Amino acid sequence: MRKFIVSGGKKLEGEISVQGAKNSVLPVIAAATLCDGNVIIKNAPDISDTYFALQILNHLGAKTTFTANENTIAIDSTGVRESEIPDKLMKKIRSSIFFLGAILGRTGRCRISQPGGCDIGLRPIDMHISALKQMGVKVIHEEEHLDFIADKGITGAKINLVFPSVGATENIIMAAVTAVGTTIISNAAREPEVVDLVKFLNAAGAKIKTDASGRIIIKGVPKLTGCEFKIMPDRIAAATYLACAASTGGMVTIRDCNTFDLDPILPIFTAAGCKVYTYDTSVTLSAGKKLTSPHSLIKTLVHPGFPTDAQAVIMGMLTRAEGVTVFEETIFENRYRHVPELTKFGADIIVSGKIAVVTGVPKLHAAKAESTDLRGGAGIITAALAAEGRSEISLIEYIDRGYEDFEGNLKRLGAEIQRSS
Ligand code: EPZ
Repeated sequence: MRKFIVSGGKKLEGEISVQGAKNSVLPVIAAATLCDGNVIIKNAPDISDTYFALQILNHLGAKTTFTANENTIAIDSTGVRESEIPDKLMKKIRSSIFFLGAILGRTGRCRISQPGGCDIGLRPIDMHISALKQMGVKVIHEEEHLDFIADKGITGAKINLVFPSVGATENIIMAAVTAVGTTIISNAAREPEVVDLVKFLNAAGAKIKTDASGRIIIKGVPKLTGCEFKIMPDRIAAATYLACAASTGGMVTIRDCNTFDLDPILPIFTAAGCKVYTYDTSVTLSAGKKLTSPHSLIKTLVHPGFPTDAQAVIMGMLTRAEGVTVFEETIFENRYRHVPELTKFGADIIVSGKIAVVTGVPKLHAAKAESTDLRGGAGIITAALAAEGRSEISLIEYIDRGYEDFEGNLKRLGAEIQRSS
């Protein structure tokens, strides 16, 4: 069980470049299944989820290479024949469900094991299933597996999502790009990562546009070609490093990020007493002497609201902020698992249902804690960096799923953090 050893209490100062977005590279790798030709993906983050996604693509029959030190992936999907995602890979990463639409579009079938819940919630796929049925896909429910069959091909349909699910939107898009006819998705997810997927597919010859009301319109084309594409910067990783800086009273600059993707998050840093300066592709945060509670409810919402993926790191940062901060987690039903771990450092947090109430404490002390999930683990590190003394955070495999060289970036900013087994 690998862990981070953190000697907290040091201000983070300096500048780093942010990685490519985990939640863009995963659906883009899945979408490469649809492409007849070579796909080159640039700015792909060197994280374990990238390797798991490529394992699925290899299992399907594609040829893939990942030059990690250049953050570049090469994919040739011409050999794709397989349509089943192996159980062990389905279990390894929940985001393997993002392959469903692409495999269907490519092979006309897809067999997956029942996607289990995960650390942050049940993660049902009812919206994925009902949308695909509207597109002429037959769905057979077995004990352990689901079979999706589109032997007569996939037909375009008008789909209204009851909730703007990111994964459902992305799966529908990937099933629709080579369908017969046009698909219109109302109440579609608008996260920047969905936009990135659309940009990738259009670069490969798809015909996707969005109308003034945010509906996504996909006109089916016979096939997609290869292309070269650069993954967008990871807005949640950027927010994480800014929260680490604010938590330690430091001053950092994050380079190579899309600052407008951070619009829902930056006002919280300002309201907490930090000075934030944004430039074209970089953001600088200078923390005040003491953080103060932003004195407004921090409610997680779909884009362009405050993102659920930033909830844990912002909470970790505000554990020492003067005053009381109220969080409301509206997206996932079990996304406060980091709270008991944060209280081990002396944080004062009470959870009731969707609500978490954080009362700032003057100091945090070192502790031994466990990462509970990807973003929860990052939130715990955010607090450990501010806690005086030597802390140990275990189960850091969760953090490795989504953060490239996490400790290396923090060290470059002056943190004392070591990885140990
Ligand atoms: C994506 O997950 C992201 N993952 C998540 O990031 C992110 O938190 C989430 O979107 C919300 O922004 C990737 O992109 C790989 P949803 P996804 O479908 O698609 C419910 C991270 O830390 N729902 O928008 O699974 C669902 O249970 C990860 O980087 C249904 O009820 O999110 C949840 O409560 C975590 N039925 C809510 O909708 C469905 O058919 C939002 O889920 C689908 C979803």
